[in-house]
Amino acid sequence: HKGKYEHYMQKEIHEQPESLTTTMRGRLIRGGSCKAKTVLLGGLKDHLKTIRRSRRIIFIGCGTSYNAALAARPILEELSGIPVTMEIASDLLDRQGPIYREDTAVFVSQSGETADTLNALEYALENGALCVGITNTVGSAIARKTHCGVHINAGAEIGVASTKAYTSQIVVMAMLALAIGGDAVSSQARREAIIESLFELPRALKVKEVALMHSEGILAGEMKHGPLALVDENLPIFVIATHDACFSKQQSVIQQLHARKGRLIVMCSKGDAASVTVGGSCRVIEVPQVEDCLQPVINIVPLQLLAYHLTVLRGFNVDQPRNLAKSVTTE
Ligand code: UD1
Ligand code: F6R
Repeated sequence: HKGKYEHYMQKEIHEQPESLTTTMRGRLIRGGSCKAKTVLLGGLKDHLKTIRRSRRIIFIGCGTSYNAALAARPILEELSGIPVTMEIASDLLDRQGPIYREDTAVFVSQSGETADTLNALEYALENGALCVGITNTVGSAIARKTHCGVHINAGAEIGVASTKAYTSQIVVMAMLALAIGGDAVSSQARREAIIESLFELPRALKVKEVALMHSEGILAGEMKHGPLALVDENLPIFVIATHDACFSKQQSVIQQLHARKGRLIVMCSKGDAASVTVGGSCRVIEVPQVEDCLQPVINIVPLQLLAYHLTVLRGFNVDQPRNLAKSVTTE
């Protein structure tokens, strides 16, 4: 039920502090003063040893679920030390890409019924990989056919555009990275900081509403390899420049965009507004800073709201975009 909201998408965006709390419930253990903070994923505990021994972890999914995995990849590589590769399910099948017994294949799917992802799962099972599911739907085909997995417990998602499932998927994958990383002393401080940040996340998510304009995603490092040619005073550009290891790179991109008179909206960490407006005027959205691997969970919210308001303003159906289905059960 939509309750006080006009659309399911709007409801699901605003629900994220609660859906993330449910995703983490019973799975994060803060412990007492002398007890280390840990993660407990019931569905994986008997399989962690096998996962840690695998030669490669492959994330497989479609659409938004694929993108959630892309956001989680760095932390999984950092904490596990295992190479992580990415596969769009249909592309893996079209290529018949190699998969081995020594691989752990992680299938990310909100519905658990997406045909392409399901076909890729059958393919990985035939090739002998350990198959792990990250699904939102208990009893779904992907949840049943994987060897083990984690339910993201975000609650039913009705809007076709994935919002709360995306943030819960990232949080589960960060917890997966913590679980695989185990108790290595070298990364203990990092792990504890991430767990602390996970506890804080639902509170940090109470970001104010914004209504802006359309954007196309480009990595900072790619700007000078082409997209810079498109920039002029008419092109609205949304720059994500929250504080992380690439911040100085983003700052120089912002200066280049200012120099070409781009119409910038810059998303930055609280307190960084002054440093991103050097060299030209722009609109700024300050967001709370969290542990870098969880920053995508915060940064997506203004973008979700942007997509929502833009769609409503243009008079389109936000819960059921034309030509799309919530669950794509054909190839
Ligand atoms: C489980 C219970 C939860 C209970 C908790 C108490 C279910 C669905 N979950 O949660 O209600 O509160 O124990 O300890 O009954 N799985 C897959 N593939 C997937 C997703 C999950 O194979 O894509 C498997 C898991 O390996 C596990 C089972 O399904 O065997 C349940 O997974 P999950 O709900 O994530 O486990 P818990 O969090 O332990
Ligand atoms: C877009 C969207 C789709 C799905 C994709 C995979 O917002 O929802 O891109 O993410 O069809 O669906 P699931 O996650 O159910 O496998």
